[in-house]
Amino acid sequence: MDSPLGLLAELTYRCPLGCAYCSNPLNLADYQDELNTEQWRRVLAEASDLGVLQCHLSGGEPLLRRDLVEIVADANDLGLYTNLVTSALGLSRSRAEQLRTAGLDHVQISIQSDEPAGSDRIAGTPSFQRKVEAMGVVKELGWPLTVNVVLHRHNIDRVAGVLELAESVGADRVELANTQYYGWAWRNRAALLPSRAQLETAEVVVRAARERLRNRMDIIYVVSDYYGRYPKPCMGGWASRQLTVTPNGDVLPCPAAQPLPLPRASVRVDSLERIWADSPVMTAFRGTDWMPEPCRSCRRREVDFGGCRCQAFQLTGDAARTDPACHLSPDHELVVRAVEAANSGSTGGDRPMSPRPHRVR
Ligand code: SF4
Ligand code: FES
Repeated sequence: MDSPLGLLAELTYRCPLGCAYCSNPLNLADYQDELNTEQWRRVLAEASDLGVLQCHLSGGEPLLRRDLVEIVADANDLGLYTNLVTSALGLSRSRAEQLRTAGLDHVQISIQSDEPAGSDRIAGTPSFQRKVEAMGVVKELGWPLTVNVVLHRHNIDRVAGVLELAESVGADRVELANTQYYGWAWRNRAALLPSRAQLETAEVVVRAARERLRNRMDIIYVVSDYYGRYPKPCMGGWASRQLTVTPNGDVLPCPAAQPLPLPRASVRVDSLERIWADSPVMTAFRGTDWMPEPCRSCRRREVDFGGCRCQAFQLTGDAARTDPACHLSPDHELVVRAVEAANSGSTGGDRPMSPRPHRVR
């Protein structure tokens, strides 16, 4: 068992946006009893003792936590590299300056499209202008900036514009991530899954931009595993190098594992060290012993670790099956059918979406 390197600290699931692709759990009401400042302080200290080096402060919208500056300062005092993952709503200049003083190392701002109306429509609230202004503040204060865009049927045709926008604000890195279908995104999959033609066009644009912007801006493109032959090596293997603490103190190997039928582990009742080492939620799929065929005898079993446990559960109801995104999976037909539907001629614009609800209190 290795030490975890990264902690995803989901400080709150409250969020001023209402994106239909959100991967937060559907049962948001179960997470209203958030850890307090003192409890987060202990979590960070225990994470540091465990070997964690990077702390991603996320949500929901982490800026809704009034104690965010204190949490950042605590993480900084422990020597953790801190990354704020934010919509930027609430990142005023004065808040940004406080976070800079507290030692925040990196900022990642999400945007929904390169054109204001489209971005605001997908976010479910007017936000584009404030996001672009916040990006300017981030660069002025000397932070490295990552611009993150979750790609789906309604914005993937805007990739060229998104890259231009990222370049114009001086982003150091842009992350173009095809939607992962968990939480609200799973509920809206039929409306979000792009067509093959859309993906192929986007990939041509990304390749050309990478060539043009080499040495100036890193472009990360997270492919859609629904269209691949093999699944993604999710989290680098279950409970291998990452852990997530949810707003109410539950500990998970990844942010999408809440629905899996595994016993709960919580920092309210146990230490992070014991949870990482011994709790069933961590040990259930660690390593390769749990694997069924065809993974068990597959030469890629330590390349992709059988794919994503959460996706296997979502699609088959059994987290211990081979990820159906793999073409060798006996359940691959489930993915093939979704892809066929996405290429069936409809534009997707007529497929209803249920965005996650906004909630700031
Ligand atoms: Fe990966 Fe399992 Fe598919 Fe092999 S069979 S490629 S290990 S998911
Ligand atoms: Fe949970 Fe892939 S998202 S294992």
